[in-house]
Amino acid sequence: MKVITDLQEKMDISVGQRLFTCIDGKDIAIFNVDGEIYAIDDSCPHSGASLFRGTLLDGYMLKCPAHGLSFDIRSGCMKYGTGMAVRTYTSKLVDGEVVIDFSEIKNKEKRV
Ligand code: FES
Repeated sequence: MKVITDLQEKMDISVGQRLFTCIDGKDIAIFNVDGEIYAIDDSCPHSGASLFRGTLLDGYMLKCPAHGLSFDIRSGCMKYGTGMAVRTYTSKLVDGEVVIDFSEIKNKEKRV
């Protein structure tokens, strides 16, 4: 599977894998969960730790390695949609390749 960004950068990412990239100065963590692609800012809204090395729980809840807060990589929200949120981007398959639309933010970062 390929990842194409708005900069035409291509990367391989298979089911169950994740990758880190820096695009236009933005650190992005990309996850392939059961063939669905999720792209989020690689910055925890709590204190800025990298989320890329976090632990995925229950498939979609990403636990920050710094202090343990968890965010749903589908929405960027914490459990029950309350509190802080991590910025997430719309991504979809196009002709078998993944397109991440950085102009369409699903959820903005929210800090408390
Ligand atoms: S920096 Fe992520 S929980 Fe504190």
